[in-house]
Amino acid sequence: MVCAGAGGVGKTTMAAALAMGAAAGGAKVAVVTIDPARRLAEALGLEELGNEPRRIAPERFAAHGVVLEGELWALMLDPKRTFDELIERLAPDARTRDEVLSNRIYAQLSQAVAGSQEFSAIAKLYELHAEGDFDLIVLDTPPSRNALDFLDAPERLTGFFQGRALKVFLRPAGFGGRLLGRGTGVAFGVLRRVTGVDLLEDLSVFFRALSGMIGDFVTRADRVAALLSDPGTTFLIVTSPRHDPVEEAIFFHRKLREAGMPFGGLVVNRMHVAPELERSGDEASGRGRCAGELSAALGGLAGRVATSAAELVALAARDAANVAHLRAVLGDPPLLVVPERQDDVHDVEGLAHVRAHLWEEA
Ligand SMILES: Nc1ncnc2c1ncn2[C@@H]1O[C@H](COP(=O)(O)OP(=O)(O)O)[C@@H](O)[C@H]1O
Ligand SMILES: [Mg+2]
Repeated sequence: MVCAGAGGVGKTTMAAALAMGAAAGGAKVAVVTIDPARRLAEALGLEELGNEPRRIAPERFAAHGVVLEGELWALMLDPKRTFDELIERLAPDARTRDEVLSNRIYAQLSQAVAGSQEFSAIAKLYELHAEGDFDLIVLDTPPSRNALDFLDAPERLTGFFQGRALKVFLRPAGFGGRLLGRGTGVAFGVLRRVTGVDLLEDLSVFFRALSGMIGDFVTRADRVAALLSDPGTTFLIVTSPRHDPVEEAIFFHRKLREAGMPFGGLVVNRMHVAPELERSGDEASGRGRCAGELSAALGGLAGRVATSAAELVALAARDAANVAHLRAVLGDPPLLVVPERQDDVHDVEGLAHVRAHLWEEA
C-alpha cells in the first residue's frame, strides 16, 4: 500500500496509522517511513532502526491501550544505503563494487540523480515484497513537491542510465576520450593541482565500473516499476481538504489511471469540523449564538471566541465544498475523512485517534 500525495498532507502520519491499525487487526505489517517528524520517530523507536525492518515492541502500543494482535515492523528509509545495497547486489565482483562505492562521482550521483530518493523507496518496497515475509507493506513516499515525481522515478532513472549523456561518457572515443584532448586535459590538470581532486580519474573509473552493470540496473528498475502496477499494490491518495492539494489529488488520480496503476481510495486528512452549535435549537450563525452563551462567563473574551467559532464554521464549510468537488470529479471513490486535531500527530495516542477514524468509517 503506497501512501502518496502532495507535500505535508499527512502521508507519513497515515502510513504509520494504517500500519498500526492493520497490525492491531492481526496482520504482520512492515511500514517503510521516509521522513517522520522527530517526535513521531521517537515514539515508535524508529531512530534506532537501520535500513532493514525491525519489529516495534508491542509494549510501546500497549502502554496507550493499543493491542497488536499481529506484528508491526518498521524501518526508516536510508536512500543512500538502499542505493549502495543495490550496487552491492548488482556488481559483478567485489572489486567493481568497491570501485563504485568509494567513488566520489557515485557518492554525488547516488544522492543527486533526480528521483533517487523516490527510486530507492520503491526499490526497498520491491526487496521487502520479494522476501515475502509480510502480509502488508505500507510505503510512505518522499516529501516531493509533486506526487508525480514518485511515479516517474524508475523511468527517470532508467532514462538516465540509457540516455545519451551516459552513452557519450561510455563511448571509447567519446566524451572520456575528448576529456583527454588538449584543452580540457589542461583544465582538469589545473583543477587537480588546485583542488587535489582528480576528477578525470574519478569519472573514468566510475563509468568503466558502472558500464558492466547498466543492463542489470535497467532490468531491475523495470521490475521495480512493474511492482507499482501489480494488482497486489494499492495506491492511497492522501490529501488535505484545501484547494491546491485537492487539485493535485485529482491530477495524481488521473495519472495513476493513465499509468494503469491500482488506485485504492482517498484519505482526506485534517478536515475542519464545525462546532456543534445547533443543540440549543438556535439556527442563527455560530457567532451570534456563541456570543450570547459565552459573554456572561467570559466577558470580553467572548467576542473573540465567537469570532473563532464562526471562522471554524466557515473553514468547515469550505473544506466540505472541496471534498464534495473531489468526490464529484473522481466519481465517488472510496474516501475516508480524518479530522484536524488540535495537536500534531506525534505519538501512539495521536496515531490511535487517526486509526479510529480510518477504521470507524471503513
Ligand atoms: N489530522 C491531523 N491533525 C493535526 N495534525 C496532523 C494531522 N495529520 C497530520 N498532522 C501533522 O501534520 C504534519 C505533517 O504530517 P506528515 O504526515 O509528516 O505529512 P507528509 O508526510 O505528507 O509530509 C505533522 O506534523 C503531523 O503531525
Ligand atoms: Mg512525510
